Amino acid sequence: MAIETERGTMTGDEMVALTKRHTLFEWSAQSKVDPIPVAGAKGVYFWTPEGKRFLDFNSQLMCTNIGHGHPKVIEAIKRQAETLAYVNPFMASEPRARLGAKLAELTPGDIDTFFFTNGGSEANENAIKLARFYTGRHKILARYRSYHGATHGAMTLTGDPRRWASEPGIPGVVHVPDPYHGIQRGWDDVGLALANLEEVIQLEGPHTIAAFFLEPVTGTNGILIPPDGYLQGVRDLCTKYGILMVADEVMSGFGRTGEWFAVNHWNVVPDLLVMAKGLTSAYVPLGAVGMRRAIADHFSDRVFYGGLTYNSHPLGCAAALATLAVYEEDDLIARAKRTGVLMKSLLDDLASRHPIVGATRSIGLFGIVELVKDRKTMEPLAPFNGASEPMAKLARFFREEGLYTFVRWNTFFTNPPLIITDDELRHGFDIIDRGLKSIA
Ligand SMILES: Cc1ncc(COP(=O)(O)O)c(C=O)c1O
Repeated sequence: MAIETERGTMTGDEMVALTKRHTLFEWSAQSKVDPIPVAGAKGVYFWTPEGKRFLDFNSQLMCTNIGHGHPKVIEAIKRQAETLAYVNPFMASEPRARLGAKLAELTPGDIDTFFFTNGGSEANENAIKLARFYTGRHKILARYRSYHGATHGAMTLTGDPRRWASEPGIPGVVHVPDPYHGIQRGWDDVGLALANLEEVIQLEGPHTIAAFFLEPVTGTNGILIPPDGYLQGVRDLCTKYGILMVADEVMSGFGRTGEWFAVNHWNVVPDLLVMAKGLTSAYVPLGAVGMRRAIADHFSDRVFYGGLTYNSHPLGCAAALATLAVYEEDDLIARAKRTGVLMKSLLDDLASRHPIVGATRSIGLFGIVELVKDRKTMEPLAPFNGASEPMAKLARFFREEGLYTFVRWNTFFTNPPLIITDDELRHGFDIIDRGLKSIA
Protein backbone atom coordinates (compact mmCIF):
# COMPACT_ATOMS: atom_id res chain seq x y z
CA MET A 1 0.00 0.00 0.00
CA ALA A 2 1.38 3.42 -0.96
CA ILE A 3 2.20 5.77 1.87
CA GLU A 4 0.67 9.19 1.45
CA THR A 5 3.72 11.41 1.33
CA GLU A 6 2.01 14.77 1.67
CA ARG A 7 3.24 16.20 4.93
CA GLY A 8 1.79 18.54 7.49
CA THR A 9 3.96 21.43 8.52
CA MET A 10 5.67 19.72 11.47
CA THR A 11 8.49 17.24 11.59
CA GLY A 12 8.10 14.27 13.91
CA ASP A 13 10.57 15.76 16.40
CA GLU A 14 8.73 19.08 16.47
CA MET A 15 5.42 17.32 16.97
CA VAL A 16 6.76 15.29 19.89
CA ALA A 17 8.53 18.24 21.54
CA LEU A 18 5.51 20.57 21.38
CA THR A 19 3.11 17.82 22.43
CA LYS A 20 5.25 17.01 25.44
CA ARG A 21 5.67 20.70 26.29
CA HIS A 22 1.96 21.46 26.55
CA THR A 23 -0.02 18.23 26.96
CA LEU A 24 -0.12 15.47 29.55
CA PHE A 25 0.33 11.83 28.54
CA GLU A 26 -1.75 9.26 30.36
CA TRP A 27 -0.50 6.60 32.80
CA SER A 28 3.06 7.94 32.58
CA ALA A 29 5.75 9.99 34.21
CA GLN A 30 6.09 12.66 31.54
CA SER A 31 9.89 12.54 31.29
CA LYS A 32 9.67 8.84 30.38
CA VAL A 33 7.26 9.04 27.45
CA ASP A 34 8.59 8.57 23.94
CA PRO A 35 5.56 8.86 21.64
CA ILE A 36 5.55 7.88 17.97
CA PRO A 37 4.60 10.98 15.96
CA VAL A 38 1.82 10.00 13.58
CA ALA A 39 1.00 11.91 10.42
CA GLY A 40 -1.49 9.59 8.74
CA ALA A 41 -2.96 6.11 8.57
CA LYS A 42 -4.67 3.83 6.08
CA GLY A 43 -5.83 0.23 6.37
CA VAL A 44 -3.55 -1.66 8.76
CA TYR A 45 -0.73 0.90 8.57
CA PHE A 46 0.12 4.28 10.06
CA TRP A 47 3.21 6.41 9.47
CA THR A 48 5.33 9.22 10.83
CA PRO A 49 5.78 12.61 9.12
CA GLU A 50 9.09 11.30 7.79
CA GLY A 51 7.33 8.28 6.24
CA LYS A 52 8.39 5.49 8.62
CA ARG A 53 5.55 3.01 8.34
CA PHE A 54 4.16 0.82 11.14
CA LEU A 55 2.00 -2.28 10.88
CA ASP A 56 -0.70 -1.63 13.47
CA PHE A 57 -0.84 -4.93 15.37
CA ASN A 58 -2.96 -3.51 18.18
CA SER A 59 -5.62 -1.57 16.22
CA GLN A 60 -4.26 1.43 18.14
CA LEU A 61 -5.90 0.86 21.53
CA MET A 62 -7.78 -2.30 20.45
CA CYS A 63 -10.33 -0.05 18.78
CA THR A 64 -9.82 0.67 15.05
CA ASN A 65 -11.40 -2.67 14.18
CA ILE A 66 -12.27 -1.73 10.58
CA GLY A 67 -8.77 -0.36 9.98
CA HIS A 68 -7.73 3.22 9.35
CA GLY A 69 -9.22 5.71 6.92
CA HIS A 70 -12.28 3.82 5.71
CA PRO A 71 -13.90 6.14 3.11
CA LYS A 72 -17.44 5.14 4.03
CA VAL A 73 -17.09 6.23 7.65
CA ILE A 74 -15.19 9.39 6.73
CA GLU A 75 -17.94 10.32 4.28
CA ALA A 76 -20.66 9.68 6.88
CA ILE A 77 -18.90 11.93 9.40
CA LYS A 78 -18.50 14.68 6.78
CA ARG A 79 -22.14 14.46 5.71
CA GLN A 80 -23.37 14.53 9.31
CA ALA A 81 -21.15 17.52 10.15
CA GLU A 82 -22.67 19.42 7.24
CA THR A 83 -26.25 18.46 8.09
CA LEU A 84 -26.33 18.63 11.87
CA ALA A 85 -23.09 18.57 13.84
CA TYR A 86 -24.74 18.78 17.25
CA VAL A 87 -28.12 18.76 18.88
CA ASN A 88 -28.73 18.58 22.61
CA PRO A 89 -29.69 15.24 24.14
CA PHE A 90 -33.25 16.27 25.01
CA MET A 91 -33.94 16.30 21.28
CA ALA A 92 -34.22 13.48 18.78
CA SER A 93 -32.05 13.10 15.68
CA GLU A 94 -32.02 10.69 12.79
CA PRO A 95 -28.60 9.10 13.48
CA ARG A 96 -29.56 8.58 17.12
CA ALA A 97 -32.89 7.01 16.13
CA ARG A 98 -31.32 4.72 13.54
CA LEU A 99 -28.39 3.69 15.73
CA GLY A 100 -30.58 2.64 18.65
CA ALA A 101 -32.71 0.54 16.32
CA LYS A 102 -29.66 -1.02 14.62
CA LEU A 103 -28.00 -1.92 17.93
CA ALA A 104 -31.26 -3.49 19.13
CA GLU A 105 -30.96 -5.80 16.11
CA LEU A 106 -27.30 -6.68 16.74
CA THR A 107 -27.16 -7.12 20.51
CA PRO A 108 -28.17 -10.41 22.11
CA GLY A 109 -31.52 -11.36 23.63
CA ASP A 110 -33.97 -8.62 24.53
CA ILE A 111 -31.38 -5.87 24.90
CA ASP A 112 -33.05 -3.12 22.90
CA THR A 113 -32.48 0.25 24.60
CA PHE A 114 -29.25 2.27 24.68
CA PHE A 115 -27.80 5.21 26.54
CA PHE A 116 -25.00 6.86 24.55
CA THR A 117 -21.85 8.29 26.10
CA ASN A 118 -18.44 9.57 24.98
CA GLY A 119 -16.57 6.35 25.66
CA GLY A 120 -16.25 3.19 27.72
CA SER A 121 -15.59 4.69 31.14
CA GLU A 122 -18.68 6.87 31.01
CA ALA A 123 -20.72 3.94 29.76
CA ASN A 124 -19.62 1.98 32.84
CA GLU A 125 -20.45 4.94 35.12
CA ASN A 126 -23.97 4.93 33.72
CA ALA A 127 -24.20 1.15 33.99
CA ILE A 128 -23.43 1.49 37.71
CA LYS A 129 -26.28 4.00 38.03
CA LEU A 130 -28.72 1.89 36.02
CA ALA A 131 -27.95 -1.18 38.14
CA ARG A 132 -28.29 0.70 41.42
CA PHE A 133 -31.51 2.48 40.43
CA TYR A 134 -33.06 -0.69 39.01
CA THR A 135 -32.24 -3.05 41.89
CA GLY A 136 -32.34 -0.54 44.75
CA ARG A 137 -29.11 -2.18 45.98
CA HIS A 138 -25.72 -0.48 46.21
CA LYS A 139 -22.84 -2.98 46.08
CA ILE A 140 -21.05 -3.83 42.86
CA LEU A 141 -18.87 -6.88 42.30
CA ALA A 142 -16.01 -6.78 39.79
CA ARG A 143 -12.93 -8.91 39.18
CA TYR A 144 -9.27 -8.20 39.97
CA ARG A 145 -7.88 -8.89 36.50
CA SER A 146 -9.96 -6.22 34.83
CA TYR A 147 -9.95 -2.74 33.39
CA HIS A 148 -13.20 -0.77 33.28
CA GLY A 149 -11.99 2.80 32.73
CA ALA A 150 -10.34 5.77 34.39
CA THR A 151 -13.27 7.89 35.63
CA HIS A 152 -13.82 7.55 39.35
CA GLY A 153 -16.45 4.80 39.46
CA ALA A 154 -15.01 2.83 36.54
CA MET A 155 -11.56 3.14 38.10
CA THR A 156 -12.90 1.68 41.34
CA LEU A 157 -14.38 -1.25 39.40
CA THR A 158 -11.02 -1.77 37.71
CA GLY A 159 -9.11 -4.54 39.43
CA ASP A 160 -5.65 -4.02 37.97
CA PRO A 161 -2.95 -1.93 39.66
CA ARG A 162 -3.98 1.26 37.88
CA ARG A 163 -6.71 1.45 40.55
CA TRP A 164 -4.35 1.78 43.49
CA ALA A 165 -3.42 5.46 43.00
CA SER A 166 -7.09 6.48 42.89
CA GLU A 167 -8.12 4.82 46.11
CA PRO A 168 -10.30 5.20 48.04
CA GLY A 169 -12.77 5.01 45.18
CA ILE A 170 -16.55 4.98 45.22
CA PRO A 171 -18.13 3.08 48.11
CA GLY A 172 -19.61 -0.38 47.73
CA VAL A 173 -17.28 -2.02 45.20
CA VAL A 174 -16.06 -5.53 46.08
CA HIS A 175 -13.47 -7.38 44.00
CA VAL A 176 -13.51 -11.11 43.42
CA PRO A 177 -10.69 -13.27 42.07
CA ASP A 178 -10.74 -14.49 38.47
CA PRO A 179 -10.61 -18.11 37.37
CA TYR A 180 -7.07 -17.28 36.13
CA HIS A 181 -4.27 -16.79 38.68
CA GLY A 182 -1.30 -15.90 36.49
CA ILE A 183 1.02 -18.02 34.43
CA GLN A 184 2.49 -19.93 37.37
CA ARG A 185 -0.79 -20.94 39.04
CA GLY A 186 -3.00 -21.18 35.96
CA TRP A 187 -6.75 -21.70 35.86
CA ASP A 188 -9.41 -22.85 38.31
CA ASP A 189 -11.92 -25.26 36.89
CA VAL A 190 -15.40 -23.87 36.34
CA GLY A 191 -16.90 -25.49 39.44
CA LEU A 192 -14.30 -23.97 41.77
CA ALA A 193 -14.46 -20.53 40.12
CA LEU A 194 -18.24 -20.39 40.49
CA ALA A 195 -18.15 -21.73 44.06
CA ASN A 196 -15.70 -18.96 44.98
CA LEU A 197 -17.95 -16.35 43.39
CA GLU A 198 -21.02 -17.68 45.19
CA GLU A 199 -19.11 -17.64 48.48
CA VAL A 200 -18.35 -13.92 48.02
CA ILE A 201 -22.00 -13.27 47.17
CA GLN A 202 -23.05 -15.04 50.39
CA LEU A 203 -20.46 -13.24 52.49
CA GLU A 204 -21.44 -9.81 51.13
CA GLY A 205 -25.19 -10.45 51.36
CA PRO A 206 -26.93 -11.09 48.05
CA HIS A 207 -29.66 -8.53 48.84
CA THR A 208 -27.01 -5.78 48.94
CA ILE A 209 -25.47 -6.52 45.53
CA ALA A 210 -26.76 -4.62 42.49
CA ALA A 211 -24.46 -5.97 39.80
CA PHE A 212 -21.48 -8.06 38.78
CA PHE A 213 -19.32 -6.32 36.15
CA LEU A 214 -17.04 -8.47 34.05
CA GLU A 215 -15.24 -8.48 30.73
CA PRO A 216 -16.53 -11.70 29.14
CA VAL A 217 -13.10 -12.09 27.53
CA THR A 218 -10.70 -9.99 29.58
CA GLY A 219 -8.68 -7.56 27.46
CA THR A 220 -5.65 -5.66 28.76
CA ASN A 221 -5.30 -7.95 31.75
CA GLY A 222 -4.42 -10.92 29.62
CA ILE A 223 -6.89 -11.99 26.90
CA LEU A 224 -8.44 -14.35 29.42
CA ILE A 225 -10.90 -16.61 27.65
CA PRO A 226 -13.20 -18.18 30.23
CA PRO A 227 -13.55 -21.94 30.30
CA ASP A 228 -16.84 -23.18 28.81
CA GLY A 229 -19.55 -23.06 31.45
CA TYR A 230 -18.10 -20.14 33.41
CA LEU A 231 -20.16 -17.35 31.86
CA GLN A 232 -23.30 -19.51 31.84
CA GLY A 233 -22.65 -20.21 35.54
CA VAL A 234 -22.20 -16.49 36.28
CA ARG A 235 -25.47 -15.82 34.45
CA ASP A 236 -27.25 -18.43 36.59
CA LEU A 237 -25.82 -17.08 39.86
CA CYS A 238 -26.82 -13.53 38.93
CA THR A 239 -30.35 -14.68 38.07
CA LYS A 240 -30.57 -16.73 41.28
CA TYR A 241 -29.68 -13.74 43.47
CA GLY A 242 -31.34 -10.93 41.47
CA ILE A 243 -27.94 -9.42 40.64
CA LEU A 244 -27.53 -7.73 37.24
CA MET A 245 -24.89 -9.29 35.02
CA VAL A 246 -23.01 -6.48 33.29
CA ALA A 247 -20.83 -7.49 30.34
CA ASP A 248 -18.15 -4.88 29.66
CA GLU A 249 -17.55 -5.47 25.94
CA VAL A 250 -15.76 -2.19 25.34
CA MET A 251 -12.75 -4.11 24.02
CA SER A 252 -14.21 -7.53 23.17
CA GLY A 253 -17.22 -6.26 21.19
CA PHE A 254 -17.71 -5.65 17.48
CA GLY A 255 -15.99 -8.62 15.95
CA ARG A 256 -12.77 -8.62 17.93
CA THR A 257 -13.38 -12.21 19.08
CA GLY A 258 -14.93 -13.38 15.79
CA GLU A 259 -18.51 -12.74 16.98
CA TRP A 260 -20.40 -9.46 17.25
CA PHE A 261 -20.05 -9.77 21.03
CA ALA A 262 -17.92 -12.13 23.11
CA VAL A 263 -20.96 -13.31 25.12
CA ASN A 264 -22.33 -14.81 21.88
CA HIS A 265 -19.66 -17.55 22.01
CA TRP A 266 -21.45 -18.93 25.06
CA ASN A 267 -25.01 -17.81 24.23
CA VAL A 268 -25.25 -15.70 27.35
CA VAL A 269 -27.49 -12.63 27.54
CA PRO A 270 -26.23 -10.11 30.10
CA ASP A 271 -28.60 -7.59 31.68
CA LEU A 272 -26.44 -4.63 30.66
CA LEU A 273 -23.97 -4.60 27.77
CA VAL A 274 -21.31 -1.90 27.78
CA MET A 275 -19.61 -0.92 24.52
CA ALA A 276 -17.35 1.74 22.94
CA LYS A 277 -14.14 1.42 20.84
CA GLY A 278 -15.24 -0.81 17.93
CA LEU A 279 -18.70 0.81 17.96
CA THR A 280 -17.25 3.61 15.83
CA SER A 281 -13.84 1.97 15.31
CA ALA A 282 -12.74 5.07 17.25
CA TYR A 283 -13.18 7.42 14.28
CA VAL A 284 -15.29 9.58 16.60
CA PRO A 285 -15.66 9.02 20.37
CA LEU A 286 -18.81 7.09 21.31
CA GLY A 287 -19.78 4.61 24.00
CA ALA A 288 -23.08 3.05 24.99
CA VAL A 289 -24.75 0.96 27.60
CA GLY A 290 -27.42 -1.37 26.30
CA MET A 291 -30.14 -2.72 28.60
CA ARG A 292 -32.70 -5.47 28.54
CA ARG A 293 -36.35 -4.54 28.08
CA ALA A 294 -37.29 -4.98 31.75
CA ILE A 295 -34.64 -2.48 32.79
CA ALA A 296 -35.69 0.01 30.12
CA ASP A 297 -39.32 -0.41 31.26
CA HIS A 298 -38.31 0.40 34.84
CA PHE A 299 -37.50 3.93 33.70
CA SER A 300 -40.74 4.56 31.86
CA ASP A 301 -42.30 6.05 35.02
CA ARG A 302 -39.15 6.72 36.97
CA VAL A 303 -36.52 9.35 36.24
CA PHE A 304 -33.18 8.16 34.92
CA TYR A 305 -30.83 10.46 36.83
CA GLY A 306 -28.02 10.68 34.31
CA GLY A 307 -26.96 12.98 31.51
CA LEU A 308 -24.12 14.26 29.35
CA THR A 309 -23.89 17.25 27.03
CA TYR A 310 -22.56 14.93 24.34
CA ASN A 311 -25.02 12.08 24.95
CA SER A 312 -26.14 10.69 21.56
CA HIS A 313 -23.82 13.07 19.69
CA PRO A 314 -24.90 13.08 16.04
CA LEU A 315 -21.33 12.74 14.74
CA GLY A 316 -20.74 9.72 16.97
CA CYS A 317 -24.05 8.11 16.04
CA ALA A 318 -23.48 8.70 12.30
CA ALA A 319 -19.94 7.30 12.53
CA ALA A 320 -21.26 4.25 14.40
CA LEU A 321 -23.96 3.59 11.81
CA ALA A 322 -21.41 3.74 9.00
CA THR A 323 -18.98 1.53 10.94
CA LEU A 324 -21.68 -1.08 11.56
CA ALA A 325 -22.48 -1.01 7.84
CA VAL A 326 -18.80 -1.67 7.08
CA TYR A 327 -18.73 -4.69 9.43
CA GLU A 328 -21.78 -6.07 7.62
CA GLU A 329 -20.96 -5.20 4.01
CA ASP A 330 -17.32 -6.31 4.26
CA ASP A 331 -18.30 -9.37 6.31
CA LEU A 332 -15.67 -8.47 8.88
CA ILE A 333 -17.04 -10.49 11.80
CA ALA A 334 -16.81 -13.78 9.88
CA ARG A 335 -13.50 -12.66 8.43
CA ALA A 336 -12.09 -12.09 11.95
CA LYS A 337 -13.15 -15.61 12.87
CA ARG A 338 -11.39 -17.04 9.78
CA THR A 339 -8.22 -14.98 10.15
CA GLY A 340 -8.30 -15.84 13.83
CA VAL A 341 -7.76 -19.51 12.94
CA LEU A 342 -4.57 -18.55 11.10
CA MET A 343 -3.49 -16.31 13.98
CA LYS A 344 -3.94 -19.17 16.45
CA SER A 345 -1.70 -21.40 14.32
CA LEU A 346 0.93 -18.65 14.08
CA LEU A 347 0.82 -18.25 17.88
CA ASP A 348 1.15 -22.03 18.31
CA ASP A 349 4.10 -21.95 15.96
CA LEU A 350 5.83 -19.28 18.07
CA ALA A 351 5.24 -21.39 21.18
CA SER A 352 6.72 -24.46 19.52
CA ARG A 353 9.92 -22.69 18.52
CA HIS A 354 10.64 -20.26 21.38
CA PRO A 355 11.14 -21.66 24.89
CA ILE A 356 10.53 -18.18 26.36
CA VAL A 357 6.91 -18.36 25.22
CA GLY A 358 5.10 -19.59 28.33
CA ALA A 359 1.55 -19.32 26.99
CA THR A 360 -0.41 -17.95 24.07
CA ARG A 361 -4.14 -17.28 24.07
CA SER A 362 -6.42 -16.04 21.34
CA ILE A 363 -10.01 -15.90 20.25
CA GLY A 364 -10.71 -14.37 16.87
CA LEU A 365 -8.19 -11.55 16.44
CA PHE A 366 -7.82 -10.99 20.18
CA GLY A 367 -4.45 -12.50 21.11
CA ILE A 368 -1.61 -12.40 23.62
CA VAL A 369 1.77 -13.98 24.27
CA GLU A 370 3.07 -14.45 27.82
CA LEU A 371 6.85 -14.70 28.10
CA VAL A 372 8.67 -16.62 30.83
CA LYS A 373 12.26 -16.96 32.02
CA ASP A 374 12.01 -20.70 31.59
CA ARG A 375 9.26 -23.22 31.14
CA LYS A 376 10.10 -25.28 34.22
CA THR A 377 9.42 -22.55 36.75
CA MET A 378 7.17 -20.46 34.48
CA GLU A 379 8.61 -17.38 36.17
CA PRO A 380 7.33 -14.41 34.12
CA LEU A 381 9.91 -12.50 32.05
CA ALA A 382 8.78 -9.34 33.88
CA PRO A 383 7.08 -9.32 37.29
CA PHE A 384 3.39 -8.57 37.93
CA ASN A 385 2.93 -4.81 37.36
CA GLY A 386 6.62 -4.50 36.49
CA ALA A 387 9.10 -4.13 33.64
CA SER A 388 12.33 -5.89 32.69
CA GLU A 389 15.23 -5.29 30.33
CA PRO A 390 14.31 -8.16 27.95
CA MET A 391 10.72 -6.90 27.63
CA ALA A 392 11.99 -3.34 27.02
CA LYS A 393 14.42 -4.69 24.40
CA LEU A 394 11.60 -6.55 22.66
CA ALA A 395 9.49 -3.38 22.60
CA ARG A 396 12.43 -1.46 21.06
CA PHE A 397 12.88 -4.20 18.44
CA PHE A 398 9.21 -4.04 17.43
CA ARG A 399 9.41 -0.27 17.11
CA GLU A 400 12.60 -0.33 15.05
CA GLU A 401 11.14 -2.98 12.75
CA GLY A 402 7.88 -1.06 12.24
CA LEU A 403 5.54 -3.30 14.24
CA TYR A 404 3.25 -1.46 16.60
CA THR A 405 1.77 -3.43 19.46
CA PHE A 406 1.16 -3.24 23.17
CA VAL A 407 3.92 -4.59 25.42
CA ARG A 408 2.82 -4.87 29.04
CA TRP A 409 4.61 -6.58 31.95
CA ASN A 410 5.60 -10.05 30.59
CA THR A 411 3.10 -9.94 27.72
CA PHE A 412 2.56 -8.50 24.28
CA PHE A 413 -0.63 -8.41 22.24
CA THR A 414 -1.67 -9.43 18.74
CA ASN A 415 -4.89 -7.48 18.05
CA PRO A 416 -4.72 -6.29 14.43
CA PRO A 417 -7.59 -4.62 12.57
CA LEU A 418 -10.15 -7.18 11.40
CA ILE A 419 -9.32 -6.34 7.76
CA ILE A 420 -5.76 -7.66 8.02
CA THR A 421 -4.79 -10.02 5.19
CA ASP A 422 -3.09 -13.36 5.74
CA ASP A 423 0.15 -11.98 4.28
CA GLU A 424 0.12 -8.91 6.51
CA LEU A 425 -0.54 -11.12 9.52
CA ARG A 426 2.35 -13.43 8.59
CA HIS A 427 4.58 -10.39 8.13
CA GLY A 428 3.76 -9.23 11.67
CA PHE A 429 4.52 -12.68 13.07
CA ASP A 430 7.80 -12.77 11.18
CA ILE A 431 8.87 -9.58 13.01
CA ILE A 432 7.71 -11.11 16.31
CA ASP A 433 9.67 -14.27 15.56
CA ARG A 434 12.87 -12.30 14.98
CA GLY A 435 12.16 -10.19 18.06
CA LEU A 436 11.89 -13.28 20.26
CA LYS A 437 15.17 -14.62 18.83
CA SER A 438 16.83 -11.31 19.67
CA ILE A 439 16.04 -11.67 23.39
CA ALA A 440 16.42 -15.45 23.73
C1 LIG B 1 -12.96 -3.41 28.95
C2 LIG B 1 -12.84 -1.91 28.98
N1 LIG B 1 -13.76 -1.19 29.62
C3 LIG B 1 -13.71 0.15 29.65
C4 LIG B 1 -12.67 0.84 29.07
C5 LIG B 1 -12.63 2.34 29.15
O1 LIG B 1 -12.98 2.91 27.96
P1 LIG B 1 -12.58 4.42 27.60
O2 LIG B 1 -11.09 4.48 27.62
O3 LIG B 1 -13.20 4.63 26.24
O4 LIG B 1 -13.21 5.31 28.61
C6 LIG B 1 -11.68 0.13 28.39
C7 LIG B 1 -10.56 0.83 27.74
O5 LIG B 1 -9.58 0.28 27.36
C8 LIG B 1 -11.77 -1.29 28.34
O6 LIG B 1 -10.83 -2.02 27.73
